[in-house]
Amino acid sequence: MQSLISQVRNEIARALVIAIGEDARGVDPLVKPATDAKFGDYQCNVAMSLGKTLGRKPRDVAQAVVDGLGDSTLFEAPEIAGPGFINLRLRTERLSTSLEEVPSIADVESDRLGISLVTGEERRRVIVDYSSPNVAKEMHVGHLRSTVIGDVIARVIAFQGHEVIRQNHLGDWGTQFGMVILALWHLCMRKHQGESVEDFQGVTAKLTDPTLDAEARLSLLKQRARIHQDNLNRDPTGDVEFHPYLTALEPSFETLLPLYRYVSAIEKAAKGLSDEALLIHNSETGQSQHLSELSRYVAAMLQGKTDRSNEQERAAWFKAKEATLVVCSGIYRQLGVLLEDGDICGESFYQPLLHEIEVNGERLPGVVDEVKLILAPPGKEADGMRAVCREDQGAICVFLEKPDGTPCFKGPEGDALPMLIEKSDGASLYATTDIAGILYRVAHATENPVQLHIPRLREQLATLGGGLGADRVIYVVGAPQKLHFQMLFPTAHATGWTRKGDRSVQLEHVAFGSVLGEDRKMLKTRSGDSIKLKSLLDEAVDRARNLVGDMQKDPNRTTDLSPEEVENVANIVGIGAVKYADLCQNRNTDYVFSWDKMLAMQGNTAPYMLYAYARIRSIYRRGAESAPFDADVRNASLQLNEPAERDLALAVLRLPDTIDAVGEQLMPNYLCDYLYGLAGKFMVFYENCSVLKAPDAATYASRMRLCDLTARALRIGLSLLGIRTLEKM
Ligand code: ARG
Repeated sequence: MQSLISQVRNEIARALVIAIGEDARGVDPLVKPATDAKFGDYQCNVAMSLGKTLGRKPRDVAQAVVDGLGDSTLFEAPEIAGPGFINLRLRTERLSTSLEEVPSIADVESDRLGISLVTGEERRRVIVDYSSPNVAKEMHVGHLRSTVIGDVIARVIAFQGHEVIRQNHLGDWGTQFGMVILALWHLCMRKHQGESVEDFQGVTAKLTDPTLDAEARLSLLKQRARIHQDNLNRDPTGDVEFHPYLTALEPSFETLLPLYRYVSAIEKAAKGLSDEALLIHNSETGQSQHLSELSRYVAAMLQGKTDRSNEQERAAWFKAKEATLVVCSGIYRQLGVLLEDGDICGESFYQPLLHEIEVNGERLPGVVDEVKLILAPPGKEADGMRAVCREDQGAICVFLEKPDGTPCFKGPEGDALPMLIEKSDGASLYATTDIAGILYRVAHATENPVQLHIPRLREQLATLGGGLGADRVIYVVGAPQKLHFQMLFPTAHATGWTRKGDRSVQLEHVAFGSVLGEDRKMLKTRSGDSIKLKSLLDEAVDRARNLVGDMQKDPNRTTDLSPEEVENVANIVGIGAVKYADLCQNRNTDYVFSWDKMLAMQGNTAPYMLYAYARIRSIYRRGAESAPFDADVRNASLQLNEPAERDLALAVLRLPDTIDAVGEQLMPNYLCDYLYGLAGKFMVFYENCSVLKAPDAATYASRMRLCDLTARALRIGLSLLGIRTLEKM
């Protein structure tokens, strides 16, 4: 099955050259699906724009194009409407022959309705960066959206035939890891103190209570500092109590999280309080740290920036990462997404490409130094901006300027807003890792040998394998990070790394809005906590189980399900409903999370789509039982005499157009709209054209084949949305 719209485009392009001459070769024929079926199937708007450039009347240009088309085998006689629109209606024979060419199904899992794969020059290497939660933090609804949307994008692009590399850009580096490691330290040491996790939670609750007065807060902090100091005194090296316990520990995310909150609450409350009693002294190192600064020190230790071994810190970091990943993979499995452990390529992976400050103060240069060299004033141009890297108040910044020198991005006071890539204390930031990430993702030893000035960076990149050589990098990240990517991409383009042969690597931000509760505020549980994804998904399955239970009580039900089947249906419908509700929205808008809406049997929902599929399959099965047809149906010639038959055939044939549109514009809702439309066309067809009681054998076989093709299109579409179909429901 070949994309219809590209066939139409090719026909028009051919006619354009005949009508206008060689100048028109390569001109975009501006073909779109018709806005109203009254006007045909497709519409071509090229005459308007061409008329302008040629200084001719659009209607004359349109007429010339129509003449150029001649006696097309694809279209019926085109019509020119209004100022010069060309309305195109496909010949019905073309629809039936195109569908007749679809091979019969060999294997359900690999069925692609004969849709061809991109090959050769067209085939791209595409990185999809999605899900990307943060270690030791709860995965939130934003990560759920990224996971669900990113997965569809990865599936669709792979279906087209491109090489897809999924990357889970896990937040597993940064100063917050000092806190995570401290949390684990407390988890190990608390035993000796006889404290339970609940005790820590109690302290956190007190410290975050706004009614707690300053004096009470200070005395609580002093008490906690004393406990901390006692623990440290007993085991200043960490070798006696901490490390051995840590090694044996299998911390669950649930126990780690409250301790992490405890550390963060302590540091926040102690900030700025200059009291002797809040200093923690380490007899081993002879150094003292303020209670609010401990995690910074531990982070520096983890990053190997102190003169002590960081073995313990690395071990703790690894444990925290593992505990987080157990939770995440559980959610991925429940969601049925493609992400696997092997797709994790977190922030820590890119750290070798970053600069480092050695203990002796020596700077080992990295990607920031490379950017500084390339984008040194006057900078370099990209995407209609000029990217200049220079120091500003001690920090290293990239400024993006318009050609006239005015800033492209402004802060609240109207001053130029740069992208910070190194803080004044030498620390790296989120953006620094993303720049290193782009270098790694686009560079390739042979396919894109990026020239680097900094020898150390060159060596470090080689130790990471030289890079992935992507042609397209897609970031599926919530809309609040829009500005980050608006600055990151032109900066990356300006470095020249994204120049790959005569093409430019595409960098795209797939943004999405928030999920709101029915009160139109950010989705929260009744207690006000951010929602737990695991319980959300469990609830979806519970609700779907009830729905299926009700359907099974219906005297008009089409099937009886065994308890195991009910469980399977509940899972597919429940999880499918959550995913579909997310995917069917234009991803840029916020949407309201509503159980009733997403589980409705009517409308653009997963239950409706799954039911439509199961219903077609049951019609097909009934046909198979009542009349032996298989060979006839598989090769039946398609008779599209009734308008409803033609409409349905055309809808099936539009699947490749839809997949290509999603692959290009990265809008999963196009696929949902398509499937919903297709199911609707089927319902009209089924009401108007008897299938099982068709007037004659040829019509019966044709209609049965149409049922089968529709079901296959639905199944492929739903599988690209990451939703499994059910033969019975
Ligand atoms: N971990 C980040 C967050 O939770 C998302 C990372 C997205 N990917 C990236 N390359 N910046 O906000």
